[in-house]
Amino acid sequence: MDELFQTAPETPERVPADVQGTIPDWINGTLLRNAPAKFEFGQHAYKHWFDGQALLHSFTIEKGEVSYHSKYLETKAFTRGNEQKRIVYAEFGTAEVPDPCKNIFARFFSYFWPSKLFKRSDNTSVSVFSMKGKIFANGDSPFMNEIDPDTLQVLGVANTTTDIVIESARLVYACAHPHEETDGNIYHMMTSVGLQPCYNIVQVPPTEQANQIETETPLEGAKIIATIKPHKSTTYHHSFGITPNYFIFVENPFSISTYEVLRMRFDQSCFHNCMHWDPSELSRFYLVERKSGECVGSYEAYSFFSFHHVNAYEDNDGQVVADLCCYPDASIMDLFYLHHLRNSKIDKVTENFANAEVRRYRLPIPGKAVSRSHSPRLPYEILGSDLEMPGINYRFNGQQYRYIYGTGPYEHGHFLDQLAKLDTVSKVKKTWYEPGCFPSEPVFIERPGAKDEDDGVVLSGVVGTGGQRSFLLVLDAANFTELARAIIPSHLPQSSHGCFIPNLSSRLQAKKPEPNYK
Ligand SMILES: [Fe+2]
Repeated sequence: MDELFQTAPETPERVPADVQGTIPDWINGTLLRNAPAKFEFGQHAYKHWFDGQALLHSFTIEKGEVSYHSKYLETKAFTRGNEQKRIVYAEFGTAEVPDPCKNIFARFFSYFWPSKLFKRSDNTSVSVFSMKGKIFANGDSPFMNEIDPDTLQVLGVANTTTDIVIESARLVYACAHPHEETDGNIYHMMTSVGLQPCYNIVQVPPTEQANQIETETPLEGAKIIATIKPHKSTTYHHSFGITPNYFIFVENPFSISTYEVLRMRFDQSCFHNCMHWDPSELSRFYLVERKSGECVGSYEAYSFFSFHHVNAYEDNDGQVVADLCCYPDASIMDLFYLHHLRNSKIDKVTENFANAEVRRYRLPIPGKAVSRSHSPRLPYEILGSDLEMPGINYRFNGQQYRYIYGTGPYEHGHFLDQLAKLDTVSKVKKTWYEPGCFPSEPVFIERPGAKDEDDGVVLSGVVGTGGQRSFLLVLDAANFTELARAIIPSHLPQSSHGCFIPNLSSRLQAKKPEPNYK
């Protein structure tokens, strides 16, 4: 188990995988994954799994064959950390290590220099997404690092704080899970601070003309299309929901103290220390109408914590249905400290490791709902348990759907060591499990010409422990049985999120010019 959370080596040269079974010949493309995978610089170690420096890795599938390589994301946090052999930037759970080359007076006065006061790490180790025809590594961060999907090198960095200009506020944080619609528009949820802190839904339009793809900056044309006022202070969030007519945002009582964030460098603190769970508070759903940008509904629910919205849709009863993976509170964040994860026996983190419950909340749309519950708190239906890192057939994003893919524990108390497919109608779960194997977030790929929602495959990078080899697993999504595995002859890190890019080889035929926004 602790093998999953040690610093992982790069595999800089592509290596062929040993394919066992048959990968359908219609799958051609690259599964890009992001992983926190370097946990120390010099004698200084990070404390939390989320702190790890990003290791991008890639499985390229072509004509039934698979190749693999990986590379650390060469951010300032990574390169300066290597050069200075210290933690130069605070991360989620670890404070900055002061520069020993500066005396105490130089350090003290640097804190008052405005550009130095709020030093943010540009490490983005959570996910990978596409925007304006380019690929970015991101996290819960203002930074989005553009990467070359072939070489995994950083091409440039977009910064929401400086690249989106609005009056009287700064967009200091974009959550890790944007939504992409078929027209190429990307929607981000970004928090702004200033005189009136708020959550903002930001639309980034696609590049209109192909010859502008290389000259447009990543956030060019971005605009705020809706704002949501926080109940009290702003809170941590990691994802949001979208339907054809609404955005769904959940504010859990896990607040972020701006004052404490600004004092982080004085206090030798980190972001997690600036977040506070208030057990006396409620969770709140906000329903934002896309056409007007107005918040048309807010709903109170008994408090819970969630990283992931699974999906949302508008039903025939005038309700928005929102499915989320939920925890009783935010203590899950504490369990991701590395001393917890590494000290466990074989595959048990702790008997008390919380496992996510998949809940369905129904939000009555004002003026449209056929009926409304008289309960002052929003009720919910449990669709399933022990399921995290949810994925769906993304063609059904915002639409009525049936199947959720995810990871979960094989037995209560295990870390995420099983893949699952949850039928939200029958509530039956199909699973894949192999002892000593830890699968990553399943990514659904639809078969060309498919009619059924689950006609396709599920891909997952599986980390083998205890002498087991790691591999890319290909499951038939309908019956959840193994079609093939591609065994990787090198180390595979435990990853968080990623995406599949179809036909990468054809994308690479044209030589890319250097970007102009680096
Ligand atoms: Fe996530």
